[in-house]
Amino acid sequence: MNLLIYKTPEELNQDLADYIIKVAEVSIEENDRFNFVLTGGNSPKRLYNLLATECKHRIDWEKVYFFFGDERNVPSDDENYNGLMAKKELFDKLEIAEDHIFYINTTLAPEKAAIEYKKAIDNHFKGSDPIFDFILLGMGDDAHTASIFPHTKLVKNEEATVSSVFVEKLNTYRISLTAPLINKAENVAFLVFGENKAEAIKHVIGGEVKDFDTYPSQLIDPIDGKLTWFVDEAATKLLES
Ligand code: 6PG
Repeated sequence: MNLLIYKTPEELNQDLADYIIKVAEVSIEENDRFNFVLTGGNSPKRLYNLLATECKHRIDWEKVYFFFGDERNVPSDDENYNGLMAKKELFDKLEIAEDHIFYINTTLAPEKAAIEYKKAIDNHFKGSDPIFDFILLGMGDDAHTASIFPHTKLVKNEEATVSSVFVEKLNTYRISLTAPLINKAENVAFLVFGENKAEAIKHVIGGEVKDFDTYPSQLIDPIDGKLTWFVDEAATKLLES
Protein backbone atom coordinates (compact mmCIF):
# COMPACT_ATOMS: atom_id res chain seq x y z
CA MET A 1 0.00 0.00 0.00
CA ASN A 2 1.30 3.40 -1.00
CA LEU A 3 0.37 6.39 1.20
CA LEU A 4 0.71 9.83 -0.39
CA ILE A 5 0.05 12.77 1.94
CA TYR A 6 -0.52 16.29 0.56
CA LYS A 7 -0.71 19.69 2.21
CA THR A 8 -3.85 20.64 0.27
CA PRO A 9 -6.62 18.92 -1.72
CA GLU A 10 -5.50 20.93 -4.77
CA GLU A 11 -2.03 19.38 -4.73
CA LEU A 12 -3.61 15.98 -4.10
CA ASN A 13 -6.00 16.31 -7.04
CA GLN A 14 -3.21 17.36 -9.40
CA ASP A 15 -1.11 14.32 -8.54
CA LEU A 16 -4.08 11.96 -8.61
CA ALA A 17 -5.09 13.26 -12.05
CA ASP A 18 -1.52 12.67 -13.27
CA TYR A 19 -1.62 9.14 -11.85
CA ILE A 20 -4.96 8.35 -13.51
CA ILE A 21 -3.57 9.64 -16.83
CA LYS A 22 -0.41 7.57 -16.50
CA VAL A 23 -2.39 4.38 -15.83
CA ALA A 24 -4.82 5.19 -18.65
CA GLU A 25 -1.97 5.67 -21.13
CA VAL A 26 -0.52 2.25 -20.26
CA SER A 27 -3.94 0.54 -20.37
CA ILE A 28 -4.76 2.08 -23.75
CA GLU A 29 -1.29 1.22 -25.06
CA GLU A 30 -1.60 -2.41 -23.92
CA ASN A 31 -5.35 -3.11 -24.31
CA ASP A 32 -6.65 -0.26 -26.46
CA ARG A 33 -9.05 0.71 -23.67
CA PHE A 34 -9.15 1.99 -20.07
CA ASN A 35 -11.84 0.62 -17.76
CA PHE A 36 -12.29 3.26 -15.11
CA VAL A 37 -14.59 2.96 -12.06
CA LEU A 38 -15.62 6.31 -10.56
CA THR A 39 -16.51 7.04 -6.98
CA GLY A 40 -19.51 9.06 -5.94
CA GLY A 41 -19.76 11.60 -3.13
CA ASN A 42 -18.43 15.15 -3.07
CA SER A 43 -14.68 14.57 -2.82
CA PRO A 44 -14.05 13.76 -6.50
CA LYS A 45 -15.93 16.77 -7.96
CA ARG A 46 -12.83 18.95 -8.33
CA LEU A 47 -10.80 16.01 -9.67
CA TYR A 48 -13.39 15.25 -12.36
CA ASN A 49 -13.43 18.90 -13.36
CA LEU A 50 -9.61 18.86 -13.56
CA LEU A 51 -9.68 15.77 -15.80
CA ALA A 52 -12.27 17.38 -18.05
CA THR A 53 -10.49 20.72 -18.38
CA GLU A 54 -6.73 20.98 -17.74
CA CYS A 55 -6.21 17.27 -18.56
CA LYS A 56 -8.67 17.16 -21.47
CA HIS A 57 -6.00 16.59 -24.12
CA ARG A 58 -3.85 14.17 -22.15
CA ILE A 59 -6.01 11.06 -22.59
CA ASP A 60 -7.62 9.49 -25.67
CA TRP A 61 -11.07 9.69 -24.06
CA GLU A 62 -12.61 7.66 -26.86
CA LYS A 63 -10.82 4.63 -25.41
CA VAL A 64 -12.16 5.17 -21.85
CA TYR A 65 -15.12 3.22 -20.40
CA PHE A 66 -16.68 4.62 -17.23
CA PHE A 67 -18.33 2.62 -14.46
CA PHE A 68 -19.52 3.45 -10.93
CA GLY A 69 -18.38 1.86 -7.68
CA ASP A 70 -21.81 2.44 -6.23
CA GLU A 71 -25.06 4.32 -6.64
CA ARG A 72 -27.77 5.69 -4.49
CA ASN A 73 -31.31 4.34 -5.00
CA VAL A 74 -32.59 7.60 -6.49
CA PRO A 75 -33.69 8.66 -10.00
CA SER A 76 -30.90 9.56 -12.42
CA ASP A 77 -31.99 13.23 -12.43
CA ASP A 78 -31.74 13.44 -8.64
CA GLU A 79 -28.85 15.60 -7.38
CA ASN A 80 -27.79 12.70 -5.15
CA TYR A 81 -27.36 10.34 -8.13
CA ASN A 82 -23.60 9.78 -8.47
CA GLY A 83 -23.98 9.43 -12.21
CA LEU A 84 -25.43 12.93 -12.50
CA MET A 85 -22.44 14.62 -10.87
CA ALA A 86 -20.07 12.69 -13.11
CA LYS A 87 -22.18 13.59 -16.14
CA LYS A 88 -22.04 17.29 -15.32
CA GLU A 89 -18.37 17.46 -14.26
CA LEU A 90 -16.87 14.93 -16.66
CA PHE A 91 -18.94 13.24 -19.36
CA ASP A 92 -20.70 16.29 -20.79
CA LYS A 93 -17.50 18.36 -20.84
CA LEU A 94 -15.58 15.59 -22.60
CA GLU A 95 -18.52 14.62 -24.83
CA ILE A 96 -18.20 10.99 -23.80
CA ALA A 97 -20.31 8.66 -25.94
CA GLU A 98 -23.28 7.11 -24.12
CA ASP A 99 -22.09 3.57 -24.92
CA HIS A 100 -18.88 4.31 -22.99
CA ILE A 101 -20.74 5.13 -19.77
CA PHE A 102 -22.19 2.38 -17.59
CA TYR A 103 -24.70 4.01 -15.28
CA ILE A 104 -26.42 1.94 -12.61
CA ASN A 105 -30.07 1.71 -13.63
CA THR A 106 -32.05 2.91 -10.62
CA THR A 107 -35.38 2.73 -12.43
CA LEU A 108 -35.15 -0.94 -11.42
CA ALA A 109 -35.64 -2.24 -7.89
CA PRO A 110 -32.25 -2.24 -6.09
CA GLU A 111 -31.71 -6.00 -6.25
CA LYS A 112 -32.59 -6.10 -9.96
CA ALA A 113 -30.41 -3.05 -10.62
CA ALA A 114 -27.47 -4.86 -9.04
CA ILE A 115 -28.07 -8.01 -11.10
CA GLU A 116 -28.37 -6.00 -14.32
CA TYR A 117 -25.22 -4.01 -13.53
CA LYS A 118 -23.18 -7.15 -12.98
CA LYS A 119 -24.54 -8.53 -16.28
CA ALA A 120 -23.45 -5.30 -18.03
CA ILE A 121 -19.97 -5.62 -16.50
CA ASP A 122 -19.68 -9.29 -17.49
CA ASN A 123 -20.85 -8.44 -21.00
CA HIS A 124 -18.29 -5.65 -21.27
CA PHE A 125 -15.52 -8.01 -20.19
CA LYS A 126 -16.91 -10.59 -22.61
CA GLY A 127 -17.18 -13.16 -19.85
CA SER A 128 -13.52 -12.90 -18.83
CA ASP A 129 -12.52 -11.94 -15.29
CA PRO A 130 -13.83 -8.40 -14.59
CA ILE A 131 -10.48 -6.80 -13.72
CA PHE A 132 -10.87 -3.04 -13.88
CA ASP A 133 -7.83 -0.97 -14.80
CA PHE A 134 -8.58 1.69 -12.22
CA ILE A 135 -11.04 1.95 -9.34
CA LEU A 136 -11.31 5.32 -7.61
CA LEU A 137 -12.78 5.16 -4.11
CA GLY A 138 -13.83 7.70 -1.51
CA MET A 139 -14.25 6.98 2.17
CA GLY A 140 -16.93 8.18 4.53
CA ASP A 141 -16.18 9.43 8.04
CA ASP A 142 -17.59 6.10 9.23
CA ALA A 143 -14.90 4.28 7.17
CA HIS A 144 -17.35 3.00 4.53
CA THR A 145 -16.24 2.88 0.92
CA ALA A 146 -18.40 2.55 -2.16
CA SER A 147 -21.59 1.48 -0.38
CA ILE A 148 -19.91 -1.04 1.87
CA PHE A 149 -21.18 0.47 5.10
CA PRO A 150 -20.32 -0.72 8.61
CA HIS A 151 -22.43 -3.57 10.01
CA THR A 152 -24.14 -4.34 6.72
CA LYS A 153 -24.30 -7.60 4.76
CA LEU A 154 -21.90 -6.17 2.17
CA VAL A 155 -19.02 -6.37 4.64
CA LYS A 156 -19.35 -10.17 4.63
CA ASN A 157 -20.08 -10.63 0.93
CA GLU A 158 -17.24 -12.76 -0.39
CA GLU A 159 -18.44 -12.84 -3.99
CA ALA A 160 -16.88 -10.62 -6.66
CA THR A 161 -20.14 -9.08 -7.78
CA VAL A 162 -22.55 -6.17 -7.54
CA SER A 163 -25.05 -6.19 -4.70
CA SER A 164 -27.90 -4.14 -3.31
CA VAL A 165 -27.87 -3.35 0.38
CA PHE A 166 -30.25 -1.65 2.80
CA VAL A 167 -28.30 0.89 4.86
CA GLU A 168 -30.15 1.33 8.18
CA LYS A 169 -28.36 4.55 9.14
CA LEU A 170 -29.41 6.19 5.87
CA ASN A 171 -32.77 4.41 5.75
CA THR A 172 -32.21 3.69 2.07
CA TYR A 173 -31.00 1.10 -0.39
CA ARG A 174 -27.68 1.37 -2.23
CA ILE A 175 -26.17 -0.60 -5.10
CA SER A 176 -22.44 -1.33 -4.85
CA LEU A 177 -19.50 -3.29 -6.14
CA THR A 178 -18.41 -5.75 -3.46
CA ALA A 179 -14.92 -5.68 -1.92
CA PRO A 180 -13.88 -8.90 -3.72
CA LEU A 181 -14.77 -7.31 -7.08
CA ILE A 182 -12.91 -4.11 -6.18
CA ASN A 183 -9.90 -6.18 -5.05
CA LYS A 184 -9.56 -7.72 -8.51
CA ALA A 185 -8.60 -4.33 -9.97
CA GLU A 186 -5.16 -3.49 -11.37
CA ASN A 187 -5.10 -0.13 -9.58
CA VAL A 188 -7.20 1.10 -6.65
CA ALA A 189 -6.86 4.64 -5.33
CA PHE A 190 -8.56 6.21 -2.34
CA LEU A 191 -9.25 9.94 -2.49
CA VAL A 192 -9.69 11.16 1.08
CA PHE A 193 -9.28 14.64 2.46
CA GLY A 194 -10.55 16.72 5.37
CA GLU A 195 -10.31 16.60 9.15
CA ASN A 196 -13.64 14.80 9.43
CA LYS A 197 -12.02 11.68 7.92
CA ALA A 198 -9.10 11.61 10.40
CA GLU A 199 -10.71 9.22 12.90
CA ALA A 200 -11.59 6.76 10.14
CA ILE A 201 -8.12 7.03 8.56
CA LYS A 202 -6.54 6.32 11.95
CA HIS A 203 -8.36 2.96 12.12
CA VAL A 204 -8.22 2.04 8.44
CA ILE A 205 -4.62 2.93 7.68
CA GLY A 206 -3.11 3.16 11.15
CA GLY A 207 -5.20 0.50 12.85
CA GLU A 208 -3.38 -2.56 14.15
CA VAL A 209 -6.64 -4.45 14.55
CA LYS A 210 -8.61 -5.60 11.51
CA ASP A 211 -12.26 -4.93 12.20
CA PHE A 212 -13.97 -5.06 8.79
CA ASP A 213 -17.45 -4.77 10.24
CA THR A 214 -16.63 -1.44 11.88
CA TYR A 215 -14.09 -0.15 9.33
CA PRO A 216 -15.13 -1.61 5.94
CA SER A 217 -12.44 0.31 4.01
CA GLN A 218 -9.97 -2.14 5.60
CA LEU A 219 -11.44 -4.73 3.21
CA ILE A 220 -9.81 -3.00 0.25
CA ASP A 221 -6.62 -4.97 -0.40
CA PRO A 222 -6.10 -5.67 -4.13
CA ILE A 223 -5.16 -9.30 -4.91
CA ASP A 224 -2.55 -8.48 -7.56
CA GLY A 225 -3.20 -4.78 -8.10
CA LYS A 226 -1.77 -1.65 -6.56
CA LEU A 227 -3.43 0.28 -3.72
CA THR A 228 -2.61 3.96 -3.28
CA TRP A 229 -4.05 6.37 -0.73
CA PHE A 230 -4.20 9.99 -1.85
CA VAL A 231 -4.88 11.90 1.36
CA ASP A 232 -4.28 15.37 2.74
CA GLU A 233 -2.56 16.30 6.03
CA ALA A 234 -5.86 17.14 7.73
CA ALA A 235 -7.17 13.61 7.17
CA THR A 236 -3.98 12.02 8.51
CA LYS A 237 -3.53 14.18 11.61
CA LEU A 238 -4.35 11.27 13.95
CA LEU A 239 -1.92 8.88 12.30
CA GLU A 240 1.15 8.02 14.38
CA SER A 241 4.08 9.50 12.45
C1 6PG B 1 -21.19 7.61 -2.29
C2 6PG B 1 -19.76 7.21 -2.43
C3 6PG B 1 -19.19 7.01 -1.08
C4 6PG B 1 -18.32 8.21 -0.86
C5 6PG B 1 -18.08 8.46 0.59
C6 6PG B 1 -17.32 9.76 0.80
O1 6PG B 1 -22.03 7.15 -3.08
O2 6PG B 1 -21.44 8.43 -1.39
O3 6PG B 1 -19.47 6.33 -3.32
O4 6PG B 1 -18.50 5.85 -0.84
O5 6PG B 1 -17.10 8.04 -1.54
O6 6PG B 1 -19.36 8.55 1.21
O7 6PG B 1 -18.14 10.80 0.36
P1 6PG B 1 -17.59 12.31 0.32
O8 6PG B 1 -16.55 12.34 -0.76
O9 6PG B 1 -18.81 13.14 -0.03
O10 6PG B 1 -17.02 12.60 1.69
